[in-house]
Amino acid sequence: MNLLKIGIIGSGERGCYVLGTRIVELSRELHIQITAICDVNEKRIEDAKRYLQQQCRSQNLDWGDSIIGTTDYKELIDLPSVNCVLITTHTDQHRLPAVYAVESGKMVYLDKPIAVTMEDAKAIVASEKDAGRPIIMGFTRRYESSWRKAKELLDASTIGILQMIQIHSVIPYTRYFQMWHRKNAYSGGALNDKASHLLDVFRWMVGPSASCRFVTAVGGRSTIFQPRKDAPLRCLFCNDEVCPYRRMANDQDDHEGTHVLNQHSWKYATQERDIADMCVYRPGSDIIDHAIATYVFDNGVKANLFWAIYGPHAYDQETMELVGSRGRIILERETGNVTVHALGKGPNNETHIIYDTKGEHFSSSHYGADIQLIRDIRSYFDGKNLEALGCARAEDGLLSLALVQATTESIEREGIPSPMI
Ligand SMILES: NC(=O)c1ccc[n+]([C@@H]2O[C@H](COP(=O)([O-])OP(=O)(O)OC[C@H]3O[C@@H](n4cnc5c(N)ncnc54)[C@H](O)[C@@H]3O)[C@@H](O)[C@H]2O)c1
Repeated sequence: MNLLKIGIIGSGERGCYVLGTRIVELSRELHIQITAICDVNEKRIEDAKRYLQQQCRSQNLDWGDSIIGTTDYKELIDLPSVNCVLITTHTDQHRLPAVYAVESGKMVYLDKPIAVTMEDAKAIVASEKDAGRPIIMGFTRRYESSWRKAKELLDASTIGILQMIQIHSVIPYTRYFQMWHRKNAYSGGALNDKASHLLDVFRWMVGPSASCRFVTAVGGRSTIFQPRKDAPLRCLFCNDEVCPYRRMANDQDDHEGTHVLNQHSWKYATQERDIADMCVYRPGSDIIDHAIATYVFDNGVKANLFWAIYGPHAYDQETMELVGSRGRIILERETGNVTVHALGKGPNNETHIIYDTKGEHFSSSHYGADIQLIRDIRSYFDGKNLEALGCARAEDGLLSLALVQATTESIEREGIPSPMI
C-alpha cells in the first residue's frame, strides 16, 4: 500500500482538529499521514502543529514532529511529500487553492460548501473537468451510516417510487453568529454552510437524472438574535453566566468545536475572522437563521426543508422522511435509527422495521461520517471510482450552491418562486 501523504490548507477546526484527529486515528490502518499544513494565520499553524504532535505521540506515531508548516498554499501543493490536498479554508477562500491543486495533478478533497459565489464554484468545477479527476467533496451526510442506509433502502424500492421528502433540521448552531460565518461574504451565510448539506441530500435522494425546476421559500432573521449596541465583543469578556448562547472553552459539550477556543490563536484572536466566541447579539452579522422552503423536481418529487439554527439539543433535531408510492422511510440522525413503514401485497400486509445504523464510530465526529470519509479518501487514492464509493464531487457542490442561492432569492422576494436555470 502506497503511503497517502496529506497536506491540509486551512489549519483550523475542521482541517486539523477534526479531520486531522481522524487521520491520526486511522494512520496505521490506512497507511496515511499528514505531511504539511498551511494557513494564512501563522499562529494557527503553530497551534495545529503542536496539537497534531500531541495526537501522534498519544498513538506512538513518529510523523507528528516532521509536519511542514507554510503560509503559502502553492508551496504546500507543490511539495513532493504531498499527494493529496485537503482544503478547509474559510468558504470564500476555497477557489484559489482548489483550482491550483487540481491543475497541479494532486488529488483534492474540498470541504463543503463549495464556495460563496457561483462564479467561484463554476471555476472549481471547470478545473475539475479539465483535469479529468473529480474533486471529492465533504457533504458529510453522504458518509454517514444512517443517510447511506436510507439511500440504500430507497434504491432497493423498499417504499416504491419516491414522491416527497422532508428534512427537519432545528439544531442549536448559534456558533454561526459567533464565528467568521456571521458574514455572508465569508461563508455565504448559515444557509450555505448548514443547509447546503441538506439540499445536497435532496438531490442525492431524488437521483442524478432529475433537476429542480423551482424553489419557493420564506425565512430570514428571527427576532431572537436582534443586534444590541451594548453587546460585548466576545463571550470570554462577558459576565452573563446564564446566557444560553455563551460559548466557552470549558463547555462540557465540545462536539461543536468549543475545545479549539483553548488554543492560543483562538484565545488571543483579534481579527473578526479569527474570533470564534463573538457575542450572538453583536451588530454586524448579516446572515439569516431560519427558512421553510419547497423544492419541485422535474420528475414530480417535492421536497421540503424546515430549518433553523436555534433551539435546545434534542433527539429529533435532524430528521428526514421519504414518502414513496408504497411506504415511508424515517431517519433520526441523533439516534441513528432508520425506520421503514411499507405496504405489502395483501390487505393489512404491512412491514415495519427499525434499522439501528449506529455502528462502532457513532460517537465520533459527524456520527462516524468523518471516519468513513477518510476511508473513502484512501479508497479513491487507491483507484476506486467516486460514484461507486458513494462520495460527493465538486459538481454536487455547485448544484447545492445553486439551490442555496435560489432559496435565498425566494426568501428575499417573500416566497415568490425562483426558477432554477
Ligand atoms: N463537512 C463538514 O461538515 C464541515 C464542518 C465544519 C466546517 N466545514 C467547512 O470547513 C471549512 C473551514 O471551517 P472551520 O470551521 O475549520 O473554520 P476555521 O476558522 O476553524 O478554520 C479555517 C482556517 O482557514 C484559514 N484560512 C482562511 N483563508 C485561508 C487561505 N486563503 N489560505 C490558507 N488558510 C486560510 C483560517 O485562518 C482558519 O485557520 C469551511 O468551508 C466550513 O464550511 C465543513
